[in-house]
Amino acid sequence: MKLVGTISLFFQINFILNVVPSETESLTQYKPNTVLIEILVRNKAHTLPYFLTYLERLEYPKDRISLWIRSDHNQDNSLEILNKWLDANRDYYHSVDFEFDSKNERIEGEIGPSHWPKSRYTHIISLRETALKRARHKWADYLMVLDCDVFITNPKTLRKLIDTGHTVISPMLRSDGLYSNFWCGMTEDFYYQRTDDYTNILNMHNKGCHKVPMVHSFVLIDLRVLSTDWLTYVPGNLESINVPHDDIITFALSANLSGIAMHVCNDEFYGYVMVPLEVDDGISYDLLQLKNLKLEVLVDNPPMETSHLLSPYVQQPNEAQLDIEKVFMINLKRRPDRRERMLNSLKELNIEAEIIEAVDGQNTVGTFACCKSSPCQI
Ligand SMILES: *[C@@H]1O[C@H](CO)[C@@H](O)[C@H](O)[C@H]1NC(C)=O
Repeated sequence: MKLVGTISLFFQINFILNVVPSETESLTQYKPNTVLIEILVRNKAHTLPYFLTYLERLEYPKDRISLWIRSDHNQDNSLEILNKWLDANRDYYHSVDFEFDSKNERIEGEIGPSHWPKSRYTHIISLRETALKRARHKWADYLMVLDCDVFITNPKTLRKLIDTGHTVISPMLRSDGLYSNFWCGMTEDFYYQRTDDYTNILNMHNKGCHKVPMVHSFVLIDLRVLSTDWLTYVPGNLESINVPHDDIITFALSANLSGIAMHVCNDEFYGYVMVPLEVDDGISYDLLQLKNLKLEVLVDNPPMETSHLLSPYVQQPNEAQLDIEKVFMINLKRRPDRRERMLNSLKELNIEAEIIEAVDGQNTVGTFACCKSSPCQI
């Protein structure tokens, strides 16, 4: 009997050893934090193919991510694109909570799609507050508030932001100008104030994670931190001060009043953000801005991409035809990087060019030596 007992114990131990992690894996490894991503979509058919492609490519386990998506008042095919993408991707995520309203095109009081009357702020404030409550209720470790004119080209972004350990944090996003998703100064009545520090951070002269009075467009909130229970988007919740009727300003002030410092990180490239439209701009103007941004991206990065599924939805702006018979591009053979970038730019601009190999001065020192002393005869 004793022997049988020993043998069965031996088998049990063997069994246990087979199912527990190997020696190289730690026995106390944790699963990645749970993240709820809030996405509000309105008239973003032109940015969605890129936005969703980069969202999909984030290197983070999708079964630890819940998506919370709301879309309303569209005048374009945003809903069609969202549905197409969700059909192919929803099963990879822990859960998807998607509600949309396809009945109305305008919020009451709006004169156009880029107009922000009080009623529109009220609408956004209510959606954002609902998502915040939903994330707390779901016991999500993090809430990631993400606008869909943000392109997260660095797939390690979410992981890196979590690793910083900051309670409210944003990656610095570049645009095709001085615009970005953070402020360095705030006026006494809580609006934007430009400072010298702003350009130092934007131009990455000063690298790291910086304490700033405002981050927006892509904000990660560590909901496990107790004081985040005081965060809010509803101005009326902050009784002590007269807050503007604005979601991001209220949120920033509620963070400050809760003793939470906001941070923006510019230690590496994370991605891009579109410049918001002015009140008179139509959606078609945003398409031109997107093209400018795609050209800007080419300066330091590979071209912006969309997944195979979404590439049929990429739009091209209507542009005036160039009144030029032929375009030539002169390129030094030993600079294939420049050639590649120019070819990508020309492709983006829909310009056909003939490439001419440049004469390389490095190979022709003798031929041009005469130019130093006497005028060149060509
Ligand atoms: C709140 O704002 C004040 C005034 O700008 C600033 O001095 C303080 O550091 C902020 N507090 C936090 C926690 O960011």
